[in-house]
Amino acid sequence: MRKDKCERIFLIGFMGTGKTTISKKLKEKLKYPLYDTDAMIVEQEGMNISEIFEKKGEAYFRQVETEIIKKFETMGQCIVSCGGGVPLNRENVAYMRHCGKIVCLKATPQTVFEHVRYGKERPLLKGNMNVEYIEILMKRREPAYQYASDITVTTDGKELDEIAGEIIEKLNL
Ligand code: S3P
Repeated sequence: MRKDKCERIFLIGFMGTGKTTISKKLKEKLKYPLYDTDAMIVEQEGMNISEIFEKKGEAYFRQVETEIIKKFETMGQCIVSCGGGVPLNRENVAYMRHCGKIVCLKATPQTVFEHVRYGKERPLLKGNMNVEYIEILMKRREPAYQYASDITVTTDGKELDEIAGEIIEKLNL
């Protein structure tokens, strides 16, 4: 894998697979600036994710998400922790592919459930916070994650250092 294509590292994957924590570990190791698309949206809109979904709707949220993804092309070397829905839009995938490498994190529905069960910031799981629903949604999204990713790393039962090391190795950094 060519290094010059690795200016930006986009971490994608289902909610609760560890994108936020692993991106922080990668930042520690690589010393690249770190961005989080959800945090950027919250800052730009002045509302939390649940409020945006409630007041403006999911379509609006997705539109803002795409605007944010487009910004990275001009932002230089960085790590980007992406909201779980980012790779569902082929336009987003094309942008990410154009300016960096896409790393997909994977975990079992059980692991995801343990990570997200007490969170209040995931409107898509509201009223459906259970392993069965997570499994259904994950299966539905699997082809999009697979299509988007340059490399895939599973996170179940692994130490953060090990996961970050695996990503760095697979990206040849
Ligand atoms: C979403 C995932 C969330 C957030 C929003 C929608 C999704 O981010 O962007 O609630 O569609 O999977 P995380 O993956 O960081 O939880």
